[in-house]
Amino acid sequence: MRKKIVAGNWKCNTSLQEGVELAKAVNNAVAEKGAKDVTVVLGVPFTHITKVVENVDTDRINVSSQNCAAEAKGAFTGEVAASMVKSTGASHVILGHSERRDYYNETSEILNKKVALALENGLTPIYCCGEALEIREANKQNEFVKQQLEETIFNLSAEDFSKIVIAYEPIWAIGTGVTASTEQAQDTLAYIRSIIAEKFGNEIAEATSILYGGSCNPKNASELFSQKDIDGGLIGGASLKADDFLAIINAY
Ligand code: 13P
Repeated sequence: MRKKIVAGNWKCNTSLQEGVELAKAVNNAVAEKGAKDVTVVLGVPFTHITKVVENVDTDRINVSSQNCAAEAKGAFTGEVAASMVKSTGASHVILGHSERRDYYNETSEILNKKVALALENGLTPIYCCGEALEIREANKQNEFVKQQLEETIFNLSAEDFSKIVIAYEPIWAIGTGVTASTEQAQDTLAYIRSIIAEKFGNEIAEATSILYGGSCNPKNASELFSQKDIDGGLIGGASLKADDFLAIINAY
């Protein structure tokens, strides 16, 4: 059975103190009420990782960075290497988020290097893909997402690909309050699973967790998560409020 995952992406939000409080609130509620069989991930700013790891039970709460460097180490001022992320006790890294592709010019070439370094260092990449509004309006989302995957994680060996979590986040649904309809999300995730099956075979396709992201909230989460191919969510805004994030975890 593939993993159900609810991952928060705090983006560039919270002071260290606020972040630690938020992480503790999620940790304590999950410790008290459990998270059924949902894998919970907190995608926190680099500056917060160590403290968040110290303040949660990492058997229950997985901690993730939101990026890593495309180089292993060296003279790259301001960068944070995958090995450094791993050394903090984090287990995951969000890669290829549309905000990084669009605002920081992350190309497929750069993402290939980041994915390889994440895997070499034992981090689980949460690999994001998704189309802009004009592509959706032209009904070209499948071709677009296929190309994003073919240029990056479809180059991996089957063994490495099996370690990846995919998050489909249509750009037009991120932070806009416009969620993809359940049908749009399910159809695109089913399509992604079908092209994984073509490339790596059915067994791997059926075992790959594919998340939906984009204005997912406590109201729409359970309908989204009830779909056959939606294995959870990558949550932005709603992951900054412990109650909302917990409600999404409990939406399963
Ligand atoms: P929102 O949930 O705020 O739309 O953000 C989604 C996202 O970008 C998560 O990575």
